[in-house]
Amino acid sequence: MTDDLELPSTWPTTEPSGGIRIAVFGTGYLGATHAVAMAELGFEVVGADTDPHKVDALAAGKVPFFEPGLDELLEKHLLTDRLRFTTDLAEAAGWADVHFVCVGTPQQKTSHAADLRFVEAATRAIASNLTKDALIVGKSTVPVGTAEQLRHLVAEVAPAGLHVELVWNPEFLREGKAVGDTLHPDRIVLGGTTAHSEALLREVYAGPIAEGTPVVTCDLPTAELVKVSANAFLATKISFINAISAVCEAAGADVTVLADALGHDVRIGRQFLDAGLGFGGGCLPKDIRALMHRSTELGAHRAASLLQQVDEINMGQRERVLDLAITACGGSVLNRRIGVLGAAFKPLTDDVRDSPALNVAAALHLRGAQVTVFDPEAGDTARRSFPTLSYATSIEECVEGTDLVLVLTEWDQFLMADAGRLARLTSAPRVIDARGKLDARAWRDAGWEFSGLGRAA
Ligand code: UGA
Repeated sequence: MTDDLELPSTWPTTEPSGGIRIAVFGTGYLGATHAVAMAELGFEVVGADTDPHKVDALAAGKVPFFEPGLDELLEKHLLTDRLRFTTDLAEAAGWADVHFVCVGTPQQKTSHAADLRFVEAATRAIASNLTKDALIVGKSTVPVGTAEQLRHLVAEVAPAGLHVELVWNPEFLREGKAVGDTLHPDRIVLGGTTAHSEALLREVYAGPIAEGTPVVTCDLPTAELVKVSANAFLATKISFINAISAVCEAAGADVTVLADALGHDVRIGRQFLDAGLGFGGGCLPKDIRALMHRSTELGAHRAASLLQQVDEINMGQRERVLDLAITACGGSVLNRRIGVLGAAFKPLTDDVRDSPALNVAAALHLRGAQVTVFDPEAGDTARRSFPTLSYATSIEECVEGTDLVLVLTEWDQFLMADAGRLARLTSAPRVIDARGKLDARAWRDAGWEFSGLGRAA
């Protein structure tokens, strides 16, 4: 994945390419972005979803979530007529040549395993409604072994006499940078392809390949595992630095300086070494749990116990921030006014799925604090998940009259806020920087009592 600054986030393509018709099943963060990106690469595309709200919004040119750059590209390709959306899965399946499966694989309600119902339903809907030879391409994040099962399903339900292949092509896009990541991926992994399907997918990805994106071809299980291992490694890196941050705190060291120094070693690298409130979102937490579950099923117990530790360290960070808040309020947050800056699981998204920020805000509320939350983009999604919290419409409104302010998502506008002006709005200028991104000296100089994770008091 390249940073959007380095490359244009769109392709110069204006002419429809090659005649390959593409259907994308599932129009959430992954599918909507993929459908739009395929149109940008020059293909005729249909995005299909069973949710009429999503389909209506997309067909009307409105992305139903916040993703920088996606609205513009959606509008552009509704106008080029290369892109349309439908709830008629059978029609989409009968029309397209290449079928991308982009539906969600959330954590099951009663276990750590992934819920594969949507992937199975989408694959069944595609295969049973095919009218010509087709390539089904899984992009959803699935436990290793899933694709093989899906091949059996396809063989069972696809109309006789058609040549149908199912391969796996995992997606590595990040929310907030989804457009750039999809158009300029840092690798393309093709699992279980034949010469025919590999050639077809090389045609689909001809743009990124010409740009130098490496293609890794492998078997189905390797492709499935590449994706979850990538997320597990990122999660492990974050939990590693968070574990070290507790050592720093106890020893009077500063984890932010330590991370910078570690990052100069190219074998380690600086990315994903930001200590703080830990990881959340719709991917990392559920993916490490699903891998933990699958590793146990496969008898790989050491991998499972490593991931268990990663998960525990991560969830423990939320407790650490809660404890810091209670300490900052003198032992109890009961009736204290607390301003929470940030609700999204990270900046540049309105996604609050498993958001550490909202989790801490809700825990403070449960302990009797009067919590007001502000997020530049995630106010509405947060309110839908936690309607009992109060929501402000600006930083100022959020911090006004507070006994304590917590910075839980590192949006730029929080980092650039005028600390002096904000201090004067509070009842008591106390701040906890749970993402380690504020300029501690500037905030202290502006009169704030400042604390953070992994930094000496
Ligand atoms: C993640 C992966 O980065 C993508 O490659 C992958 O495609 C995606 O999951 C997925 O499986 O669909 P995403 O969930 O958008 O992408 O978020 P990340 O940018 O990875 O951040 C995850 C969490 O880690 C956030 O809560 C963030 O605040 C936290 N984080 C990140 C840290 O706590 N410290 C860091 O140093 C970096």
